[in-house]
Amino acid sequence: MRILSIETSCDETAVSIVEAQGARETPTFRVLGNALYSQAKLHEKYGGVYPNLAKREHAKNLIPLLKIVLDEAGELKTENREDIAKEEIEAILSREEDLKRDFLELIPNIATPEIDAIAVTIGPGLEPALWVGVNFAKALSLAWNKPVIPVNHMEGHIASVLLGNKESKGLSYPLLSLLISGGHTQLVYAEESLSYKIIGDTRDDAVGEAFDKVARMLDLPYPGGPQISKLALADRQRRKKANKWDLPRPMINTPDYDFSFSGLKTAVLYRLRNALELDQISKEEIAREFEDAVTEVLLKKTERAITEYGIKTLIIAGGVAANTYIREAFKKLSSKYADLSVEIPENNLSTDNSIMIAMAAYLRPENQLLPENSSQIRSLTPNGNLSLE
Ligand code: KG4
Ligand code: ZN
Repeated sequence: MRILSIETSCDETAVSIVEAQGARETPTFRVLGNALYSQAKLHEKYGGVYPNLAKREHAKNLIPLLKIVLDEAGELKTENREDIAKEEIEAILSREEDLKRDFLELIPNIATPEIDAIAVTIGPGLEPALWVGVNFAKALSLAWNKPVIPVNHMEGHIASVLLGNKESKGLSYPLLSLLISGGHTQLVYAEESLSYKIIGDTRDDAVGEAFDKVARMLDLPYPGGPQISKLALADRQRRKKANKWDLPRPMINTPDYDFSFSGLKTAVLYRLRNALELDQISKEEIAREFEDAVTEVLLKKTERAITEYGIKTLIIAGGVAANTYIREAFKKLSSKYADLSVEIPENNLSTDNSIMIAMAAYLRPENQLLPENSSQIRSLTPNGNLSLE
């Protein structure tokens, strides 16, 4: 099955074509085309993602990315399509001017690609941003007469470990996912494939958000995660033991699986206020202490869940899983627990992408909305707060 997938939940615009094969328990995937545009630089001056700017950028970038992906997959073929329902497409894309213009310029002039379905993220995320992807999927479905598969972005993060799925071995259950991104910090338990129970969640800031806010305090650009990580590494290379900043490990010993990172962020703020001068070395020390504190809390709670639930597979996914120190810390768990396999996607699949959206779509064929039921497709609505449960 060939899936064209679209991701626009936050500040990455991404489109891919993925070929999926095999049973749902042991799927294999091959990426035929993939293109991603990160808007991070544009949002830098706001210190975070500005939803209406994200929406405009998605609308501008989707068709250029689609073109790249079709070309990579050998599917960009000229053909004069008189039969495209232009008026209906104009109505679907009426709120996305740039996308509407580009769409009507390209799609009536190329052949329908050999794909079986169009997968699109419907949430969670920023609703104005999600709408662009969803409307794009609707318009493509109409033009090409293809089904649409709506995808939960967080299920996409979980599915991200399936690319390059070792010798098509399936994942063992019970399975625990630690989802750490700009919007989420969740421990999700799965007794079996695709059934989720959120056993832990953040009570305030998500981990990635805390990274971004602390980076801002240290005058580092958005997104802050990679910046903090770089500074922390410099300090780790300089000395073995962390120096003096004494940051708290919030909720590390509470008997639940919840997290809280806003106090940690405030603690950094107070330490910075009391610091006499903030030279480069101090910044590196704070970054390291912050990374240590976050890692310790995530590890402690995750390990408790591993033991209590007899976990066989641990997945670490979401943008923060691209953090080298956190990755290394979690990889060590597979030698500590004999029955545990630890799965962490490559860095470019940890942060937002559309390959994971295609993979998650393949796992849920029952969610396909068929073009015969065009009213179902037309009424597809994103949900910024979509949950895994
Ligand atoms: O999953 P993601 O790309 O988007 C969301 O769905 O939120 O995650 C983005 C988050 C940002 O907060 C970013 O600072 C963080 O992931 N991040 C990192 C690293 N790379 C990205 N955090 C820590 N260390 C990194 N290397
Ligand atoms: Zn994400």
